[in-house]
Parts: sequence; C-alpha cells; structure tokens
Amino acid sequence: MSMLRKTVRKAVIPAAGLGTRFLPATKAMPKEMLPVVDAPAIQYVVEEAVSANLTDILMITGRSKRALEDHFDGAPALERTLELKGDQTRLDAVQYSSGLGPIHYVRQGEPKGLGHAVLCARQHVGDEPFAVLLGDDLIDERDELLTTMMRVQAETGGSVIALIEVEPSQISAYGCADVVSVEGENYVRVNSLVEKPDANEAPSNLAIIGRYVLHPSVFEVLENTEPGRGGEIQLTDALQTLATADGVGGGVYGVVFRGRRYDTGDKLSYLKAVITLASDRAEFGEDLKNWMKGFLA
Ligand code: G1P
Repeated sequence: MSMLRKTVRKAVIPAAGLGTRFLPATKAMPKEMLPVVDAPAIQYVVEEAVSANLTDILMITGRSKRALEDHFDGAPALERTLELKGDQTRLDAVQYSSGLGPIHYVRQGEPKGLGHAVLCARQHVGDEPFAVLLGDDLIDERDELLTTMMRVQAETGGSVIALIEVEPSQISAYGCADVVSVEGENYVRVNSLVEKPDANEAPSNLAIIGRYVLHPSVFEVLENTEPGRGGEIQLTDALQTLATADGVGGGVYGVVFRGRRYDTGDKLSYLKAVITLASDRAEFGEDLKNWMKGFLA
C-alpha cells in the first residue's frame, strides 16, 4: 500500500439550517447572513478556510439561501456605482467576498441533520480527507486551529475533531468526547462520542466545536447511520462509529482548542460575539468601549 497520504484541499460548509433560534430575523434571510460587525457571519468562516489554503469550498445550502450565493458573487451594478463615485474603500469591501471564491453549492433538500448535510458533499469531495466548518463558531484569526487539525490528520491518517473544555452544566448543548492523551503529542485519541448528553451522563467536559477534518470513510458510515438525537442523522454518531471501528478510517483524534472562539449560534452568544469583535476594531473599538463604560454606570 502506498504511504502517500492525500492532503486536505476541500472545505465543506453546512449552511442549510432554518435558523429558528433567530426568528423573526431569519424569516426571510439566512441566519448565516446576520452581520457580525460589518460582514455576514459566513464570510468569516469562508475566510478562515481560505487562509488555511482550502481553496475548494462547497457550501451545503437549501431553500431561501440565495443571499449566500449573491454575497459571494460579483455585483456589477453596485460595483460600477461605487467606481463612478470613486469610493475605493467600499468597492474593495464589495469585491473582497467574491474574490474568496469560487464557491460550489449543493442543496440539502430535506432538513435531516448535520450528518446528512455532510453526506450531501460526498460526490464533490470524493476519496480524500476534507474539512468541515460550521458557521455558528467563529475562530479568531490570530489563533491557530484548522491548520493544526490538518497537521494531525496528516500525521494520524484518521479523522480529527476540535474540542473545548466547558462547564459541566454546558455539555448538554454539544457533542461530548471521551479521550485519552497520546504521549508526546499535542492531540488526544477519541475513545467514544455522544451527541448532547445529559450533564450527569456526560463522559467528560470536552465539547465538540464546529471544525472537523474528516477521513472520506465517514461518507460510507453516514450512509448507514440511523437518525439519532432529535430524529436527525448526527455527524457525532458517525464519528462514534469511526472511533470504535477497528482500523476503518484510521480512528478519531481531537485537538483541544484554548484560543478565542466566538459562538454566534444563539441570540445572547451572538450579541457577545458582535460586541467582542467590534471592541477590537481600530475604527471604533475605543469609542465603543468608552460608551459601554458610561452605559453600564
Ligand atoms: C452540532 C453538532 C454538535 C457540536 C456543535 C458545535 O450541533 O451536532 O456535536 O457540538 O454542532 O457547534 P448544533 O449546534 O448544530 O446543534
């Protein structure tokens, strides 16, 4: 057997969710388009993939997601207007998002869960390891995660998940991993996984966050994964199969992330993410912080 391992080139971004947590804001607009300061949340995620050199991007979308395609496409009339006005700054901002592409799209068709969304990428991805980035998690560009995970994937030949330590009371909002350390390595081996366990049944306080680098054998497993929690086909359940399957898919490993992560998955976390990122902006960060001091007093 060849020792040559395929490098990760493709990123899959599931974006087919209905965004019910943000209703009514998401009645006619994809939740991925909610602005985080001045760019839609999804743009940060695409940017992260591109900076990790994943230039082949597949977005899993669905009904009412057209704004996503428009955002990453050229906008000739708008660009022409800005050009005529000589507004180079805004023209650059508009052209930036279409310059990140090309982006491929496939529609999920039915809301059958994250595992099913990833399975929709099968034909595009083929037989090579690939990354999955969930739009609800934003990773600070100053911190390293995806490239570390890609390195661990290359080293182990398996699948790699991203983990954070959470308060035990928070674990039921996440997939949870039981792990063992690997001597001399900066990653852990995953023994088992469970999707959103009750706090008193969780095997650890290690929560799965929205970055994965997966072995292509996950597709075959997903095909055979029955609906799990919430009646949905769970990616966590497929990874549990890979973690316990002897040899198939090379096992599952975890990278424990200790950097800055901004959750935009529910209203309160989203507001915190916007304020945190806005406070870092050179244009108005200081003004915002000064205003907040007065507001809180
Ligand atoms: C999904 C996964 C879950 C993971 C989470 C991270 O859940 O199923 O295992 O912990 O993403 O954001 P969701 O938040 O889509 O319900």
